[in-house]
Amino acid sequence: MIELRGKVAVVTGAASGIGRGLAERFAAEGMRLVLADIQHDPLEAVAGALRATGAQVETQVTDVSDAAAVQALADRAWAAYGAVHVLCNNAGIVPGARFRPIWETSPQDWHWSLGVNLMGVVHGIQSFIPRMRAQGGWAHVVNTISVAGLVSGTNSPAYGAAKHAALRATEALYADLAAEGSPIGVTALCPGVVSTGIGNSERNRPATLVPAGGVQGDDPAAMEKYRGIKAAGLMPEDVADMVVQAIRDRQFYLVTTTAFDRGVQERMDAILTRRNPQFPDILTLSQEETHAR
Ligand SMILES: NC(=O)c1ccc[n+]([C@@H]2O[C@H](COP(=O)([O-])OP(=O)(O)OC[C@H]3O[C@@H](n4cnc5c(N)ncnc54)[C@H](O)[C@@H]3O)[C@@H](O)[C@H]2O)c1
Repeated sequence: MIELRGKVAVVTGAASGIGRGLAERFAAEGMRLVLADIQHDPLEAVAGALRATGAQVETQVTDVSDAAAVQALADRAWAAYGAVHVLCNNAGIVPGARFRPIWETSPQDWHWSLGVNLMGVVHGIQSFIPRMRAQGGWAHVVNTISVAGLVSGTNSPAYGAAKHAALRATEALYADLAAEGSPIGVTALCPGVVSTGIGNSERNRPATLVPAGGVQGDDPAAMEKYRGIKAAGLMPEDVADMVVQAIRDRQFYLVTTTAFDRGVQERMDAILTRRNPQFPDILTLSQEETHAR
C-alpha cells in the first residue's frame, strides 16, 4: 500500500468544500500540505485549524485561471518541500443562472467558467507535471471534474462544457503518462451532488466579468427543487475518503454516485446508434437517486 505519511500534497480550492475535505484527510494521513485558494481569509482559517492539529501547512493565495499564479504556486511548493507527490486541481465555480437556456448564458459566464474550470486544470498540468516527471518516482494527480463532465443536455452549459473539456484534458494526461510508463497516476474525480459552497460561487466572480445589467437569477421553483437535491448530497469528507482510496488503487474514473449513469448511458447509446438523444434533467432526480452508490 502507498504510504502517504510525509509525502507532499498540493490542493487548489482548499478553503471550502471538497478541497477543504481533501486537505483535512491528507493532513490526517500525515502528509505535508500546500493549500491554495483565491480567498485569503477562509484559506488561512483552514490552514490554521490544520496547523493546530500538528500538520505542516503552507498557503498561497492563487487564482488558478492565471497561468503565472499557478506557476508561482508550483515554485512555492518545491521551494518549501523539494517535492510534490499529490496534486489536486480542484478549484471550480458554477457561474450565473443554472437553469436558463444557453442563449441567455453571458460571454462573461463562458469566460469565467472556462478560465477556472478548464484552464485552472490545464495550468496545474503545465506547471506541475514536468517537475513531477523530473523528480521521478511515485506521484498522483487528481483533477476535480464533475458528473457534469459526463452527462449533457440543458442546465449550466458554461459549467458543463468546461467540465467536459477538463475531462478530455485529464484523459490526455492519463494517456500521455501511461504511454511513457510513468509512475505518476491520474484520477478524474467526478462528484455527483456534494454539500459545499459551490452554489455560492458568485462570491468569487471577478469584477471584470460581471455582465452588463448584472448576473441573472434563476427561476425560484427550479432553485427550490435544486436545493432539495443538494440536501441529499454527499459530505466533502466522504468524497475525500473515496479520493484517498482511488489514489491507492490508481483508479482513473472516480464517479461518486450511480445517479447520473442513465444520463451517461443515454448519451452514449444515442451516439452509437445514431439516434437523437433524450437527456435526463438533474431536477427530475429523486433524493434516493441522488444518494445512489
Ligand atoms: N459540490 C458539488 O456538488 C460538486 C459536484 C461536482 C463537482 N464539483 C467540483 O468540485 C470542486 C470544488 O468545489 P466545491 O463544491 O467544493 O465548492 P466550494 O465553493 O465549496 O469550493 C471551491 C473553492 O474554490 C475556490 N476558488 C474559486 N475560484 C477560484 C480560483 N479562480 N482560483 C482558486 N480558487 C478558487 C473557492 O474560493 C472555494 O474555496 C469544483 O471543481 C467543482 O466544480 C462540485
